[in-house]
Amino acid sequence: MSIDPHAYATTGLSQGKRPQACVLTIFGASGDLTKRKLIPALYNLALENRLPERFAVVGYARSEMSHDVFRAKMREAVSEFSRTGLKDESIWSEFAANLYFIPGSYNEPTSYKNLRDFLDGFDRGSRVPPVRVFYLATPPELYGSVIQQIAAVGLASRESDGDPRTRVIIEKPFGTDLQTAQELNRKVHEALDESQVYRIDHYLGKETVQNIMVFRFANAVFEPIWNRRYVDHVQITAAETVGVENRGGYYEHAGVVRDMFQNHLLQLLCLTAMEPPVGFSADAVRDEKGKLLKSVRPIAPEEVAAAAVRGQYGPGRMAGKEVVGYRQEPDVGKDSPTPTYAAIKFFIDNWRWEGVPFYLRSGKRLAKRVTEIAIQFKRPPLLLFKSCAVEDVSPNVLVNRIQPDEGVSLTFEVKPPGPDLCVSPLSLDFKYEQAFGNSPPEAYETLLEDCIEGDSTLFTRHDWVELAWSLMDPFIQTWQISKPRDFPNYEAGSWGPKEADDFLQRDGRRWRRP
Ligand code: BG6
Repeated sequence: MSIDPHAYATTGLSQGKRPQACVLTIFGASGDLTKRKLIPALYNLALENRLPERFAVVGYARSEMSHDVFRAKMREAVSEFSRTGLKDESIWSEFAANLYFIPGSYNEPTSYKNLRDFLDGFDRGSRVPPVRVFYLATPPELYGSVIQQIAAVGLASRESDGDPRTRVIIEKPFGTDLQTAQELNRKVHEALDESQVYRIDHYLGKETVQNIMVFRFANAVFEPIWNRRYVDHVQITAAETVGVENRGGYYEHAGVVRDMFQNHLLQLLCLTAMEPPVGFSADAVRDEKGKLLKSVRPIAPEEVAAAAVRGQYGPGRMAGKEVVGYRQEPDVGKDSPTPTYAAIKFFIDNWRWEGVPFYLRSGKRLAKRVTEIAIQFKRPPLLLFKSCAVEDVSPNVLVNRIQPDEGVSLTFEVKPPGPDLCVSPLSLDFKYEQAFGNSPPEAYETLLEDCIEGDSTLFTRHDWVELAWSLMDPFIQTWQISKPRDFPNYEAGSWGPKEADDFLQRDGRRWRRP
């Protein structure tokens, strides 16, 4: 089967309207995110003609740099990190001519005034003032003050006060617990309306994550069985083969719960389990996600031990090479208690899901890189095929493979040819690559395009982020207080600690080994 390779460009859920002109200012423009993700994503949008007719990027950071030096660095970044490489010189030249760099401090009002004067230059001679997007890619502790400063020099004001063009994108992490997230939300709302705020979770920009909604709400066959009557349990896995790389300093404070659960895994849980929204407007979708989080049964600190397992990787072998344990990574404490693995069981107290466990797990240095959502259905009520050698009939499993090998598969039992009446599991498998042939847009392409167009469906709303922290705080706090005695408790390259297997075995279930 072949499908128009350009289909990716048009299948996004984006419902926004492309403005004629836009200036995107990146705070933290000398950092890793800008070079690895943001500029390559913007270049790819330019390549596919998905940017406004008039578009400029202004990099802002403390380092001194001329426009030309910034352009040269970004050229290297695009060659190295864009999914297409630096494919088209003429598109690059046009794009680079609209790249600028303004050096400035993060706490000096004069620096922000300087930026304001520079941005005002884009307004002169424009019939329609350009949409202004500010991207906060600075260290997270600066988010609140950058927003206050841009508001103080008149660069940002409320939509409800007549500013229709200012949008602010905030990178993760949004706070480090419920209290800090609430404080940051307060600061943000002192300057801006919620409709102007775009909190990033890059998982929401992944094609396969958006497909969860399309799969669920554009097909009639699954809805009747998407509930406690047919589903035995759900496993949501985000397994990584990488360790903490050069981010030991950050990770020591974060750990797997802040790094993966509070954001990405809970988003996957919401999209899988939420009710159909009344429409695909940003708020309709986000209302349902919020409702879902409100129905997740909270785990009290004294219940954490029974509801979750934590782990930390020790040394091991990955792809035939020796790798060090977490405690030997740069900037990590020699007796660090930070978890690099967690498995958590949640229940959702609503009519659809009562009694169905949702097992979430994520870890670094696991055997295989795979993110997937597996819906395991109940077994048939009666086993008719007892004569065959198969011990048991396998339950049907519907797997949404988020990455890599993106696709959807459904396993079911068939009769293999032959005289005996036997059963054997097979699967119907849809693979993105086979069906669509080309590489899908990177998450940041989708998210940047959506923000430029004013569509916040795929961004996190203030209430969701606080609800998510309130569910995860008990794990973070309990594990901070009670230090682990058995760390490291899994070998790099394995599927995690043995306790995680026992955890599911106690429920009569097994983790998938995708
Ligand atoms: C980031 C985490 O948010 O997500 C990283 O900070 C993690 O630690 C990454 O590796 C995983 O993203 P992806 O897109 O590779 O699954």
